[in-house]
Amino acid sequence: MANAKDSILLIGAGNLGEALLDGMLKKGLDVTALVRSEEKMIKLNEFYPSLKVEISKKTIDIGGKTVILAVKPGSFYDIEFKGMAKLLVSVMAKIYIDDLKLNVNAQSYIRAMPNLAARCEKSVTAVTGSHAAKAEALALFESIGKSVWVESEDELNIATALAGSAPAFLAIVAEALTDGAVRAGMKRGVAEEMTKGLFDGFAALLENSHPARIKEEVMSPKGTTAAGIFELEKDGVRASFMKAIEAAYLKASK
Ligand SMILES: NC(=O)c1ccc[n+]([C@@H]2O[C@H](COP(=O)([O-])OP(=O)(O)OC[C@H]3O[C@@H](n4cnc5c(N)ncnc54)[C@H](OP(=O)(O)O)[C@@H]3O)[C@@H](O)[C@H]2O)c1
Repeated sequence: MANAKDSILLIGAGNLGEALLDGMLKKGLDVTALVRSEEKMIKLNEFYPSLKVEISKKTIDIGGKTVILAVKPGSFYDIEFKGMAKLLVSVMAKIYIDDLKLNVNAQSYIRAMPNLAARCEKSVTAVTGSHAAKAEALALFESIGKSVWVESEDELNIATALAGSAPAFLAIVAEALTDGAVRAGMKRGVAEEMTKGLFDGFAALLENSHPARIKEEVMSPKGTTAAGIFELEKDGVRASFMKAIEAAYLKASK
């Protein structure tokens, strides 16, 4: 099994790869990044002077290494892998461990599904695969937030809907709440500032309380919140969110 002192080979430093890179370097991990262009190499070197960056070749030697694959699935099939990795960690959506095994040799295989909040070290990352590499994989993704072990790739697909897609669903909630305040007469800038504070405060409340309890604490008899909640329930907002998660899960499973 690989351990924290191993050098990590990161293939692909795009949106997600760079967020991972940032988190891993902050944790003091030894990382080499493979990129496709000189321009990207220079940019990364300027930003992270201690980072080892190399230009990727068609055939990549992964022998004995801990490898993180953060390329798009289309690019994955263009790469030839040489040797047997100690551990292969893929963050690619829709590429199952059986597909990874057909293309890459490794002692252990892990799949992980981080989300956009990796950018601010607040990703909640679902991780699954070889139990032998569980502790190491969870620790790796704690460099960009929280990590949660799930027992199957099917659950990883559900996590893709919940952690991966739901930031977009919540973005719609944030936008709609702001629009509601603007519709009632509030200036947009003020409404946006208040919505930001609302999400921040709500995240802290949710850390220590159940959603139902939070709702009950705010919803008083004949009150303003009760009036708003009735409208949401009448329009089937719960079923809409449940259907959105189901649709995203089914799409992730295909
Ligand atoms: N973004 C997210 O929030 C998120 C969340 C969960 C999972 N994922 C998964 O993460 C993977 C990457 O997503 P992304 O959003 O980070 O995509 P991205 O921004 O397009 O990053 C992919 C990077 O891989 C590089 N690349 C491609 N082939 C390469 C090779 N042979 N060697 C070295 N680098 C190579 C690309 O370089 P060029 O710029 O030169 O093309 C690009 O920088 C995807 O499979 C996606 O399913 C992403």
